[in-house]
Parts: sequence; structure tokens; C-alpha cells
Amino acid sequence: MTVLVLGGGGRENALALAISHDPAVNAVHAAPGNPGTAGFATNHSVDINDGAAVTALAREIGAHLVVIGPEAPLVGGVADVVRQAGIACFGPSRGAAQLEGSKAFAKSVMAAAGVPTARFRACRSIAQAAAALDEFGAPYVVKADGLAAGKGVVVTNDREAALAHAAQCERVVIEEYLDGPEMSLFVVTDGTAAVPLMPAQDFKRVGEGDEGPNTGGMGSYAPLPWLPEGTVDTVMEQVVHPTLARMRTLDIPFAGLLYVGLALTSAGPRVVEFNARFGDPETEVVLPLSDGPMGQLLYAAATGHLDEMPSFGRLPGACVCVVMASDGYPGSPKKGCPIVLPPEPESVHVIHAGTALDDKGQLVSAGGRVLVVVARGDDLEQARARAYAYIDEVDFADGFCRRDIASPDRLKMISARLG
Ligand code: AMP
Ligand code: GLY
Repeated sequence: MTVLVLGGGGRENALALAISHDPAVNAVHAAPGNPGTAGFATNHSVDINDGAAVTALAREIGAHLVVIGPEAPLVGGVADVVRQAGIACFGPSRGAAQLEGSKAFAKSVMAAAGVPTARFRACRSIAQAAAALDEFGAPYVVKADGLAAGKGVVVTNDREAALAHAAQCERVVIEEYLDGPEMSLFVVTDGTAAVPLMPAQDFKRVGEGDEGPNTGGMGSYAPLPWLPEGTVDTVMEQVVHPTLARMRTLDIPFAGLLYVGLALTSAGPRVVEFNARFGDPETEVVLPLSDGPMGQLLYAAATGHLDEMPSFGRLPGACVCVVMASDGYPGSPKKGCPIVLPPEPESVHVIHAGTALDDKGQLVSAGGRVLVVVARGDDLEQARARAYAYIDEVDFADGFCRRDIASPDRLKMISARLG
């Protein structure tokens, strides 16, 4: 099987790598890919938001499956164009991707399906927003209603700051604050059958101790040692299956990757958000611990045969990843800064998230999140130690990382929030 992966970030590097390990896959292509995917796949420069260009490339390389990584082409309907051309595509339709593309749509689906989530108000004026802030009280949660690469949400105790963010958004959703540790669950689905991968947790704030603004994620880990047994079953039953059923009723079945972001509150799991694609950097730790053929799994989901797949196992051990970002992230990151990577020990792998080669062939930064250092270990502590030991050898003067990803102290604080 030949597989084309669309996107050029860490998630796509990790996805393409896992797919390349599937014995049924003999060629992986990436568009645009990055210097990380170039190590094992063929990179192509194509506009991934242009469905016709993607279809032409898929035909040219004889792709049996197109896997769409990022949200923008999904919300833009690229999966529909590829499928109309008769090529299997892993990724929801334009309509179904609204589960991520519009917070208000996602909330309406959850309400109709009886899915537990935060109470909310969709607001169209500052007066409405102010009233909603006062209705729910602090901490205030203010979300722009549209794609924002993880940066459209402000959670703050400062009413002025909450109002200022609301004023910047054309449409805004104001929510009740959900108190409890967060978890990300990836569910591969063909619209009816659904296969959960192992839960992970990412660290969203840019600074140590969870200070500073939200980012796309500064690191992640799996498994979650504090997670109550049975949580995944509960989420499948209370969230995933009702949501998929509601989408079928609306005649926009959701086939692809349903990313369920949850807060585990004292009243039970509550949905924080849905995404229509794999999460980044959680993908980087979940896939190395997944025991099964990833290409075949995604192909089965793309072609409506997921119920015929044997269930996906999970490998022993633990995985921790730490993001190295460029100075300035999540604001305006510096680009073009040189990076020298030491050789990788067996248990460590560097995923490229925002890198490029300059005209001399030197590896340089090309985005906010630049590198994702992924380490395996017998347990979280060993994996974490290996990730930081490698980072200490990386030469990236204009980069930074959080030093407390999956640290014992953070894990203790996280599990204490379970109540
Ligand atoms: P979202 O883009 O909706 O995932 O929001 C980004 C991050 O903001 C989430 O991962 C949470 O850390 C935080 N957040 C969002 N909604 C809530 C909420 N209702 N209560 C508490 N934190 C939230
Ligand atoms: N790590 C959060 C996301 O991918 O949205």
C-alpha cells in the first residue's frame, strides 16, 4: 500500500513514521513533509489546502490512502474532493470537521446527543459576552468560534482580560470553567465503529508550572498513571458513541480521527473540546506505544471496514515528549536559527515539527514548535530522564523548552486535582 500524508508538522512526522512501520505499507509520501519525514518518506511540495492539487499528486504516486493531518484542509473540504476522485481518504468531510471548526456547532451536537460538557453561551456582542462572564463567574473561559491553532482560548481570573479577548473575536463562546485534570483521547472511527487509542496528556501553557499563555502543547506523556480505571469505557459510552450517532442522524457522519479533549471533574468526564484530527504533541507519544498496523487501521476507517480490524493493543512502558520551541513562541517565533542534533540513542527519536534546511543544507528553525524529542522508557521517569538528557546535548541557541514535562511534582499536582 502507498500512503500520502498531508501536513508538515510534528504530528505528520509521527503519523508518517508509524504508518511506515506497517508491514502492509511499502511507500510513504508526505506533502509538504519536513526534514524529519525526508528520512523515510518522499516529500512533495504541494498546497495541501487545494483539493485538486492533492488529488493530482495522489494519482501521480498511485496512493491507496491519503491521510490528512492538519485541521485547515479538513475544514476546507479536501477530504471530500479526494474521496470524490475515488481515492480512500482518512479524514472527515467538510461538514463533519465542523466539530472542530466551530465551537458553537460542536456544542449544539453535544447538547442534542446528551454529551457532558461545560455550560456555555454563544455571544455575538460585547454586552452578551459580559453578561455570560457574570453568569458563570471566574475563572473565565473565552473561546473564539473558529480555528485558532490552540491559541484562540483565554482562561483567566481577570474580567478585563476576558472581555478584551471577547472583543477581539467576531463570534465568541463563553463557558463555565471545568475543574479537573485534562486528558486527550484519540478515537479512530469510520462513522460507526470506533477504536480508542491510549489516553495521553499534554502541557498546554508555555511556561513551567503552567504559567503563561496557551500553546498548541509543550510536551506530553502516556500512559496516565493517575487515570481511574474504566475512564476510556465511560468516555466511549457517554461521549464518543452518542456523538457519532448524532452526526449520522444529521447526515454528516464523522469518519476519521475524533480527538476528545476532556476534563475529569468531580462530577465525571466533561468534554473540553473536539478536534477532527490527531493532537500534537500527544500523537508523538501515543503512536510509539500503539501495537498494531497503523496504515491498515486508518485504511479500514477510511473505507468503512473498521469493525473488521482486530482491536489495537498497547505496548508496555511509557513515552514522554518535550517540545523545543523557538524564542518568541507562541507570539512571533524567531525563524532561520541553526540547530545541530546529536546522534539519537536507541530509546530517543527526534520528530521535526517546524524545521527546514537552509540553502547550505543546515537544519534551521522554521516555526514556533520546532522539535519534539520523544523518549521511551520502562516507566515515565526513565522516559523523561532520557528526553532531557538528549535535549541537553541539542545545539539550538534560540530555542527553549519546559523543564517540568511529566515531572513527578507535576504528576502529583495533576492527580491531586482529581479530588
Ligand atoms: P480548547 O481550544 O477548547 O481546547 O481550549 C484550550 C485549553 O483551554 C484547554 O485544553 C483547557 O486547558 C482550557 N480550557 C478550555 N475550556 C475550558 C473550560 N471550560 N474549563 C477549563 N479550562 C478550559
Ligand atoms: N495538543 C492539543 C491539540 O493538538 O489541539
